[in-house]
Amino acid sequence: MNNTLINQPNEETIPEVLPIIPTMDVVVFPNMIVPLLVSDEKIIKGVNHALQESKLIFLLAAKDSADSAEGAIGTSDLYQVGTIATIMRLIKIPEGGVKILVQGIGKGRVQEIISADDILQAHVEPIHLESNDIEQLLPHIRSIKAVAEKMATSGHSFSPDFHIILSKMQDPEKIADFVLSHLSLTVEQGQQLLEVESQEELLETIYHYLHQEIEVAEIQEKIRSNAREAMNKAQKEYYLREQLKAIKQELGEDDLEEIDVMIEKLESLPVTQEIKEEVMRQINRLERTAPDSLEATVTRNYLEWIFALPWNKETEDNLDIKHAKEILDADHYGLKDVKERILDFISVRNLKQDGYAPILCFVGPPGTGKTSLGKSIARSLGRTYHRISLGGVKDEAEIRGHRRTYVGAMPGRFIQAIRKANSSNPLIVIDELDKIGSDFRGDPSAAMLEVLDPQQNNSFYDNYLGVPFDLSKILFIATANSLDTIPGPLRDRLEIIELSGYTVDEKVNIAKRHLLNKAILDTGLDPEKITISDEVIHDLIANYTREAGVRQLERLIRKLCSKEARAIVEKNSSITFSNNNIEEYLGPRSFLDDENINHGKHVGISNGLAWTSYGGDILKIEAVLIPGTGKLLLTGQLGDVMKESAQAAVSYARAHAGRFGIEDSLFKSNDLHIHVPAGAIPKDGPSAGITMLSAILSTITKRPINANYAMTGELNLRGEVMRIGGLKEKVLAAKRNKLSYVIAPMKNKNDLKDMNEVTDGIDIIWVEHVDEVLERVLEPIKRKKSKQA
Ligand SMILES: Nc1ncnc2c1ncn2[C@@H]1O[C@H](COP(=O)(O)OP(=O)(O)OP(=O)(O)O)[C@@H](O)[C@H]1O
Ligand SMILES: [Mg+2]
Repeated sequence: MNNTLINQPNEETIPEVLPIIPTMDVVVFPNMIVPLLVSDEKIIKGVNHALQESKLIFLLAAKDSADSAEGAIGTSDLYQVGTIATIMRLIKIPEGGVKILVQGIGKGRVQEIISADDILQAHVEPIHLESNDIEQLLPHIRSIKAVAEKMATSGHSFSPDFHIILSKMQDPEKIADFVLSHLSLTVEQGQQLLEVESQEELLETIYHYLHQEIEVAEIQEKIRSNAREAMNKAQKEYYLREQLKAIKQELGEDDLEEIDVMIEKLESLPVTQEIKEEVMRQINRLERTAPDSLEATVTRNYLEWIFALPWNKETEDNLDIKHAKEILDADHYGLKDVKERILDFISVRNLKQDGYAPILCFVGPPGTGKTSLGKSIARSLGRTYHRISLGGVKDEAEIRGHRRTYVGAMPGRFIQAIRKANSSNPLIVIDELDKIGSDFRGDPSAAMLEVLDPQQNNSFYDNYLGVPFDLSKILFIATANSLDTIPGPLRDRLEIIELSGYTVDEKVNIAKRHLLNKAILDTGLDPEKITISDEVIHDLIANYTREAGVRQLERLIRKLCSKEARAIVEKNSSITFSNNNIEEYLGPRSFLDDENINHGKHVGISNGLAWTSYGGDILKIEAVLIPGTGKLLLTGQLGDVMKESAQAAVSYARAHAGRFGIEDSLFKSNDLHIHVPAGAIPKDGPSAGITMLSAILSTITKRPINANYAMTGELNLRGEVMRIGGLKEKVLAAKRNKLSYVIAPMKNKNDLKDMNEVTDGIDIIWVEHVDEVLERVLEPIKRKKSKQA
């Protein structure tokens, strides 16, 4: 900034016509010294012309919109107001063109462009700023100085001298020139400043730009410092960590290795960035807490869990069908249909490995092989196996995990299972799904929905882990004794496979081929030495057990094996078990003569058949008439459906009283009491309809019922016998209880099609109407009363 370089020519000495030099990207102001590069022939001619004359030229800025390509600037691209300048120096550039140093001396406006002698020239009229009262200008000067001061103190790009020099200046135009030379303006902004008409306007505009400048500078500074901060954070953390190390070393709390090892482990953990960040937070927390504190223990436990989980560790499936079939057959006798379904399932996985895997659910009485089938499937697929029993689980946290804030918090059972299985795709048998409970601690079955739902279980959220875990690769197999207590939405997600009780023949085979071998293996006996004959096994099944499955039988066989082991150890001799000596080892036969089941003929007592989660069973129904007022009494913990079917039976009896020779007044002057013994066990269902009617009519007519019959069938008010469930189990129960006949609805006939092993040894009488039942079971009245009791 210098304005004393040359003697300023006064206005009279300025020629009217001056050569034009267009300037790109810059507006030159009076008092400003600027170097310019000129390469256009025509313009260079103008420069030479000026040098020979007054050395004065006229600088005109080209508009922003002008094409900057050389020589392309037309006169219409130039602004009309420009700066009269004097050429201070000229240097020729070897490659062509010239470099000139110019200083602005005043402003001028184009009157007319003249293009003569190949030189671009213009008629220029000098213009001056309208000067204002200093009083008027003072506020503007003050604001400019204030902004300048602010810039200086907040450490902006302007040098601190800027503010110091400015603060001493008084002349408005000098102030304007000074500030101007520090601003970075666009051509348009510069031109606007050049064209202002008064001093006041000039100061005002300068203030405006200065203010803008400081704002831009402030934003830039902010961005810069943000970036710096982000970079510094990592450095800072490192630095703090090092310091902490030093402090802890001083304190003798040197657990650095632990932290370092964890950080290293975390790096190689195959988990998402999100999870890594959460784990890192916990590692940092561990580092911050005293190593022996409770909190550190909690955090350490947590981290141990995280590192122990098999995040991405999978076993490969063996999907060979032949191999699967061999294993299923080797582990289990019979169960043809069930095995077929399992092989179907494996075949589907063969074709589409990552496809939707249905959740199989085995439903059936205890001891029928549900859990052990699950284990077999795991073995045949080559997956690791884990069993989770939900029996009696009432707390949601058992499934979803406890929050870590609880003392002794643990992950839920599924995460625990995954860790134990040490594979992220184990086969998990969910045992006793039907025994899941719920209470004030939440509803575990809702959590189970989440576990089993293929839509959500790929990011299962365990409260303890606090990060999602993928359960979708697990193969779930559920087991249950009954479907009734499984909540509907949960049941919808399951593919139900029913297992029923075994016949005696099947039990004998299972015992010989599997149970005995297992027991021998477990007791360490010599397989050659022990034999348990078929007769003994039959004896066990018939007289020591009364079950649908084979669990009790398995226990007895084990007991015999351990007796054998004892004999070998104590006396070095082996035992030959037979029907004669078996009571010595197992105690008296428990079911030899079951007083519960009567095979005689009694008034008012009929044998029904029930189907429970424990398999089929005999359900005795008793009815008596007692003097009263026509009420119906029902006892024995009957459910609503069963009560209603009792009422229907009574109504049917009353409606058809005449046919059985009963007077209606009998119903009015007596109460009818129906009792279903084993009063502590809840019973429900409509299938005892015909059994109740038999008992009612027997007690009213005094005709005894033939107790060799067991019956099952729902009764409607027209006397039709309707379909019931669980017939196979019921027939097996009747056989177990040594009854001769089962009366069942004709509509169920197909249930036992091709099931000779079930129907062998018992007569099944298919009925459509209750009259057929009554005809068979109601005996004529015995004349000789003394013989009856
Ligand atoms: N068909 C079979 N062949 C061979 N062994 C069998 C068969 N069915 C059951 N078992 C054996 O009987 C025992 C009991 O079976 P398991 O524990 O699987 O019963 P479960 O159906 O799961 O019963 P629960 O409903 O009580 O859980 C097991 O040792 C099992 O191997
Ligand atoms: Mg089981």
